[in-house]
Amino acid sequence: MSILPASVAAVLNLLASLFVMLILVGIVALVILYVVDKRQHADAIRHNFPVVGRFRHLFIELGEFFRQYFFAMDREEMPFNRAERNWCYRASDGTDNTIAFGSTKNLTPSGTAIFVNAPFPPLETDRAETQPMEIGPYARRPYLAPSFHNISGMSFGALSAPAVRALSRGAKLAGCWMNTGEGGLSPYHLEGGCDIVFQIGTAKYGVRSADGRLDPDKLRAIADRPEVKMVEIKLAQGAKPGKGGILPGEKVTAEIASVRGIPAGLPSISPNRHPEIGSVGQLLDFIEEVRELTGLPTGFKTVIGGFEWIEELCFEIARRGPESAPDFITIDSGDGGSGAAPMPLMDNVGLTIREALPGVVDILGRNGLRERVPVIASGKLVNPSQVAMALAAGADFVVSARGYMFALGCIQALRCNKNTCPTGITTHNPHLQSGLDPADKAVKVANYCRNIRHEVEMIAHSCGVDEPRQLRRHHVRVVQANGRSVLLSELYPPVSFAAADRQSAAELVLADGNGMDAAARTG
Ligand SMILES: Cc1cc2nc3c(=O)[nH]c(=O)nc-3n(C[C@H](O)[C@H](O)[C@H](O)COP(=O)(O)O)c2cc1C
Repeated sequence: MSILPASVAAVLNLLASLFVMLILVGIVALVILYVVDKRQHADAIRHNFPVVGRFRHLFIELGEFFRQYFFAMDREEMPFNRAERNWCYRASDGTDNTIAFGSTKNLTPSGTAIFVNAPFPPLETDRAETQPMEIGPYARRPYLAPSFHNISGMSFGALSAPAVRALSRGAKLAGCWMNTGEGGLSPYHLEGGCDIVFQIGTAKYGVRSADGRLDPDKLRAIADRPEVKMVEIKLAQGAKPGKGGILPGEKVTAEIASVRGIPAGLPSISPNRHPEIGSVGQLLDFIEEVRELTGLPTGFKTVIGGFEWIEELCFEIARRGPESAPDFITIDSGDGGSGAAPMPLMDNVGLTIREALPGVVDILGRNGLRERVPVIASGKLVNPSQVAMALAAGADFVVSARGYMFALGCIQALRCNKNTCPTGITTHNPHLQSGLDPADKAVKVANYCRNIRHEVEMIAHSCGVDEPRQLRRHHVRVVQANGRSVLLSELYPPVSFAAADRQSAAELVLADGNGMDAAARTG
């Protein structure tokens, strides 16, 4: 006789039958999967190891997420390791950004940068705030740029609307500029009232005519907005030199299509270069046309492969006069980021900012253009030491894309090209976007910018100078393969006119009386 009440026994019987049924269904499913895997020939692993082979794909997918939590050491992930990301998160939270016990950074590998601390640094009371810097003295509306760290170009399209809104508001709070990227100017960029750098990409989104060329009226209308302070002509970005922007069709929503002036739902692929810019002369012509149309400082963004064309550019500027020069040059690192780019271009095309930056700065210096053409550097400059190193090498400004993405909450899930970004930053899926509150994230963006400036100033003071733009190459040592460090100023000796080993364009400019103090910024 059963000791259980009849109703309990009936429930247990039902559960037991369900359990047996589930096992049977499971076995049938496994048999079906086995047959499917065995009969297909598209995937050798699944064919040779039916069913079990399927877990490989699952683990590859999940591995991207879990490696960073369980397996990777603090300093070993790419593109940004945990220590670098955590600095960004702490800086954006605005909480205590000190670490305990000792550095986890190995200072012996070759290439490691070490700053030269001063024996008697300036007293707290003598420290200076970084001063605003004027860009574009020959433009009708020169720009007095307040911040040396700013937000690099990321298009509305690559980024979601809440991400753009948060960046715009955050930039306003921190007093830095925000670059629109090549996707046009949206109402979201304007929402916070921050300074805007309008980027003209090769497809001229937002300012394109029916045949894909520059529409002067559309450009003038954008430049007339008081928030828009400069125009950047994008020749190339580090992640994909020689290739235009790529926005997968699923990310081209009706709204993004209307801002860009293209059809919705289809992939948005830009030409690999501006059709009207095929030489340094045409580059200067186009810069002049844009500067004239807009009245705004106009420069270009590129990634450096070789330096000859920069020499050629300087020569052409010397021939035309200093007013013809670009009002700034943005140099992106070969290992810069992107919403979507082919791997060979991302990995192996274009010099890193470490090599490109001093090279360009010295050519400008040799040609008397160092003061006329401010240099903006980008590429993995997301922590204070990286930014300080770029300033010491000769940059006047630093911009970052992924640093500000970390401030928005990016977890480096590497999903920017899939419309499935789990943090809502690079997806147009409303469900995924719902976790990104622009008001909350704006504060984090501002905190990140302020803290990076603050800690770069701290490095500058430790090196014995009053502010970051006074950092020079002799303030940085670089560890060599033999374990000893040498001064960056020995690796890239500061250039002066006397050191020029040939009749450079600078001498022509100097002969005209237009020479600038090149050595002043390169020493
Ligand atoms: C999601 C995303 C979108 C980007 N979109 C653009 C763009 O529209 N135009 C551009 O010139 N660069 C674009 N970039 C490149 C960045 O502006 C920047 O040059 C590069 O990522 C290096 O800076 P970082 O290392 O601080 O990210 C994009 C980068 C990312 C990550």
